[in-house]
Amino acid sequence: EKGTYPHYMLKEIDEQPFVIRNIITKYKDEDDSIKLDEEVRQAVQSADRIYIIAAGTSYHAGLVGKELLEKIANIPVETHIASEFLYNMPLLSKKPLFIFISQSGETADSRGVLVNVKKLGHQTLTITNVPGSTLSREAEYTLHTYAGPEIAVASTKAYTAQMAVLAILAVDTARASGLEMDFDPLQELGIVANAMEIFTEQKDVLEEVARDYLSVSRNCFFIGRSMDYHVCMEGALKLKEISYIQAEGFAGGELKHGTIALIEEGTPVIGLATQEKVHLNLRGNMKEVVARGAYPCMISMEGFQEDDDKIVMPKVHDYLTPLVSVIPMQLISYYAALHRGCDVDKPRNLAKSVTVE
Ligand code: M6R
Repeated sequence: EKGTYPHYMLKEIDEQPFVIRNIITKYKDEDDSIKLDEEVRQAVQSADRIYIIAAGTSYHAGLVGKELLEKIANIPVETHIASEFLYNMPLLSKKPLFIFISQSGETADSRGVLVNVKKLGHQTLTITNVPGSTLSREAEYTLHTYAGPEIAVASTKAYTAQMAVLAILAVDTARASGLEMDFDPLQELGIVANAMEIFTEQKDVLEEVARDYLSVSRNCFFIGRSMDYHVCMEGALKLKEISYIQAEGFAGGELKHGTIALIEEGTPVIGLATQEKVHLNLRGNMKEVVARGAYPCMISMEGFQEDDDKIVMPKVHDYLTPLVSVIPMQLISYYAALHRGCDVDKPRNLAKSVTVE
């Protein structure tokens, strides 16, 4: 039930710090190590390549998952849109593992891929919020995201939960493979949960940003680089689906290759800069759009912030910034939709789970 909340989406956004703390508890063993099924550990560790298959927001979590598994566990990963993979399968490696990410566990496009790769004899693991779901029952292994029921069509807490589980899985795999690891995901996720609360407790600031930037805009761009780029894609999807503002997430460096032509006087551009390697490059990209009239809103992180950044998130580990930086985007989308009189929890033309191809 949504209790005193006006919308499920807002309630689910607010639940995220608790979801992350719940995940920490569920994946922690008595000796503070990671608790994971030995079979799952084996399956991931023995794969020569991982194929992540998902749709929508879960696909965006999969893009971050690729970064985490490659950087932390040193396994090559490809992330694919389920509906594309279904009819256009790339050449596979010798010992692939397929990871399906799905909040509902019922997405038909992903199920189509699951059925096909099972026929080929490949190993399958589903990361889902609904353990009894079709994708969970039909895959060999399941990891539970423990986010609790997600009712709003716009996915929020399922996304952050998926990324948390992927980070844990990546570190567990790295440790099982004997890789040196100074990143403790269970501890770092605790810091993330606290950082999330800073935003869920400061909604007035984000409501103001939504009012200021998005009350009358026709479109909006989200730009970032590396992990921030993936979060920008998610921020844009959130804004599109509930506020019907045309929004796109772009890689900051790619703008000058075409998209920058769309920038006009007053076009809102939300920039995200949390990654040490590229935050200065992104600031350069923001200058380029501002010079063409864009109305900029910078989201940065403590340590990399500059004076006129609109939103500064608390410092969290480089690998986990998406879990926190997405929250202002979720809230900005929520308030933009609200101000524009949209049906936040049930946007037009959409269903919570897409059980047709
Ligand atoms: O249940 P799933 O995670 O498989 O659903 C995938 C997408 O349909 C879903 O994430 C969709 O994009 C959301 N409406 C996004 O907010």
